[in-house]
Amino acid sequence: MQYNILFIDDESGVLEALEWTFADEPYGCLTCKTPVEALRLMEEIEFAVVVSDQRMPEMDGTELLEKIKHQWPATIRILMTAYQEMDIVLDAINKGHVYNLIFKPWDETELKRAIKTAVDDYKLRKTSDGSEQLKSETNQLVQLNHRMEMKNQYLMERLQQAQKMEALGNLSSGIAHDFNNILLIINGCLDLVMVDSSLIPSVYTKLVQALQASNRAKDLVSQILSFSSANESSGKPIKLGPLVREVLAFIQAALPSNIEIRQNIAIHSEKVQLDPTKVYQILMNLCMNAAYAMNGNKGIVHISLTRTRSDQPEQAGRVKLLPGDYFCLTVSDNGYGIDEVSLGQIFDPYFTTKQKNGGTGLGLALINQIVQDHGGRISVQSEVGKGSDFQVYLPLVEDSQGV
Ligand SMILES: Nc1ncnc2c1ncn2[C@@H]1O[C@H](COP(=O)(O)OP(=O)(O)OP(=O)(O)O)[C@@H](O)[C@H]1O
Ligand SMILES: [Mg+2]
Repeated sequence: MQYNILFIDDESGVLEALEWTFADEPYGCLTCKTPVEALRLMEEIEFAVVVSDQRMPEMDGTELLEKIKHQWPATIRILMTAYQEMDIVLDAINKGHVYNLIFKPWDETELKRAIKTAVDDYKLRKTSDGSEQLKSETNQLVQLNHRMEMKNQYLMERLQQAQKMEALGNLSSGIAHDFNNILLIINGCLDLVMVDSSLIPSVYTKLVQALQASNRAKDLVSQILSFSSANESSGKPIKLGPLVREVLAFIQAALPSNIEIRQNIAIHSEKVQLDPTKVYQILMNLCMNAAYAMNGNKGIVHISLTRTRSDQPEQAGRVKLLPGDYFCLTVSDNGYGIDEVSLGQIFDPYFTTKQKNGGTGLGLALINQIVQDHGGRISVQSEVGKGSDFQVYLPLVEDSQGV
């Protein structure tokens, strides 16, 4: 689209010079000698910019531009003046009648630049495109900002959680070591006393109970110790499929007869960089929880091991999975399920609903830590009364990295 410019000056020489200056510019340039003629022309043609001389016989330039402002507010108004007329001109600028000033005699480059700026401004004022585009760009920026804020908040939460776990790990391992030493003494003394054949049976029974409790405390301490060393790296990569089969055979033997384990291990040679004992911990904790959730009823725990690929940074639960190949170890039960409030807390250390039965609330916190430290994540879905599904994602180790 071509934009029109109107020059008004009572001196023909000035108008001729202006026509000549703008002959090669991409505007439709018109000239006229009087304000009246200018106003008439403006009735017929749309002008982007009007450039008026200040001193004219019928009407001053400032007066003309004021009229134009009221009738065609979008048109950009420029006044051409000599330095002597500054007072009047400044007044017109203050009142908003004039958009820009050009001093006579003008500098050609400056004049062209002033006209170009004026035309650009007119385009912005006039076409809704400019403001629409600006609006959509602003919207995009607002959305981007919102996304960045959410990401920031997510990272802050992860950082706080990591710091909490680190502090807890340090504290727990300190206490656990001291506790371990005390338990060694208690156990040793109990062993010594219990070999005494002169003990009366009721005392002997009490000592057996004390030894059992002490052994339970030892287990708890070793769990706390492994919790604080959950991030320690393993040695060689291992084939996960065969190991899972092995561990499940062991777990099945340890479970009460009402619990049946059904497995679907579709992976054989792919490897994971993880200690076999940690694989055992993961499966043991998940299976024990699943078995417990059956509440003494007959139940089936389904375990499957498949291979999956994450091409996009995936958001599942609250842990992100980087792109790559993963094992997906699933442990599903048809037990009593987990309510929504508890679901947000089950990975918190010491969260347990098994106070009466001596649950520590460390099982899931521990394995969650192990899995995260090995570049994986755990996600969970559960419905009260229907059961729970735990998925453990662990990164596959490439063959070149394998042994
Ligand atoms: N499969 C499941 N079904 C129902 N609830 C579960 C299941 N797994 C975990 N939970 C809930 O999550 C809580 C925390 O589990 P976690 O394994 O961390 O500790 P715990 O089992 O209570 O204690 P511990 O592992 O020492 O026996 C459990 O107390 C239970 O409420
Ligand atoms: Mg548990």
